[in-house]
Amino acid sequence: MNSERLSTLIRSFQGLRIGVLGDFGLDAYWYADMTRSAISRETPLPNRPVVREDLAPGSGANVARLLHRIGASPIAFTILGRDWHGSVLRSLLEGEGIDLSGAIEAEGMTTTMFAKVILAAHDLEQEDSRLDFLDPEGPPDGARLELAATLEARFAGLDGLVIPDYEERGVIDAGLRGTLAHLHARHPGTVVAVDSRDRIGEFPGMVRKPNRIEAGRWLLPDREAAGCTVEQLIHRARDEAQQAPLFITLGAEGCAVLDGGHTLHIPAVPLAPPLDPVGAGDAFLAVLGAALAAGASPGDAGYAANLAAAVTVKKLRQTGTVAPEEMLALNDKTGPLE
Ligand SMILES: Nc1ncnc2c1ncn2[C@@H]1O[C@H](COP(=O)(O)OP(=O)(O)OP(=O)(O)O)[C@@H](O)[C@H]1O
Ligand SMILES: [Mg+2]
Repeated sequence: MNSERLSTLIRSFQGLRIGVLGDFGLDAYWYADMTRSAISRETPLPNRPVVREDLAPGSGANVARLLHRIGASPIAFTILGRDWHGSVLRSLLEGEGIDLSGAIEAEGMTTTMFAKVILAAHDLEQEDSRLDFLDPEGPPDGARLELAATLEARFAGLDGLVIPDYEERGVIDAGLRGTLAHLHARHPGTVVAVDSRDRIGEFPGMVRKPNRIEAGRWLLPDREAAGCTVEQLIHRARDEAQQAPLFITLGAEGCAVLDGGHTLHIPAVPLAPPLDPVGAGDAFLAVLGAALAAGASPGDAGYAANLAAAVTVKKLRQTGTVAPEEMLALNDKTGPLE
């Protein structure tokens, strides 16, 4: 796509009211300068002197932030706990100007946080095991009912809805999927784009964005997902793409766009290492949802989403964001990919 068309497409995101329904979290990056480490007096282990802390919206909260950065007006539909992770996340999102009027608070629930510990010494950095704060029960039923009612009341006012369904016991349960199915049937013109780690098959008729492994588990459940070829996935996916376009993301191989009987392969933007794929899926979903809601064709939406994801892959050790200028600059640098 030439820069003029891309620029027109990005401008069309301006002011689109896009709901973000799903799992929000806080990403914490804690940097320990191991050159300052000493054996602790209390334990026979070296301590980790944290010299820098970065806190950022993660998972669905990052999708909302990305939508805002590309010009859309996202509205968060999620459930947050009343803990400190929740209040930090709220204030970060409010600071970005994101509408939290659809976010429900649940007493006693743990707000998701992924804390990444990075050990640094001299010129070396090494990421240690991540600390995951997840509520073992997921959100309480009452909060889910409240969220479903809020979504029902607000859906007609949305230009589109994107769904980051990332956690096993996350915000979206069978009840909410029922609400969605009924809203989708009542408002067939409103784009609903779904990224679901474990249940992509349970959003029939909606736009879906599985990655290769998620597509394999869904479409070829009897096979080892990692062993499925792209051709096998596409062959199986054709029926599923009759009602709504389907986007299978393929990491460093770009993505496949299936639309009715048509299939298009969009190659990845060639990028030199170092690369960090954190946030690539979020960026793909945000731009895909905005582009389809703006009326772009599936091919153009896939192209823009692929480009936005590539921008984040070049951002190391952060939950990457994307600005329109960065998409345009990368497109100019690599030339139209088609
Ligand atoms: N190495 C890479 N080079 C260029 N683009 C990439 C690379 N890795 C990922 N991408 C881009 O990011 C998109 C999404 O990547 P991927 O298929 O890994 O999704 P994902 O597994 O959902 O990501 P996530 O881990 O964020 O959930 C790809 O379709 C591609 O556009
Ligand atoms: Mg993903």
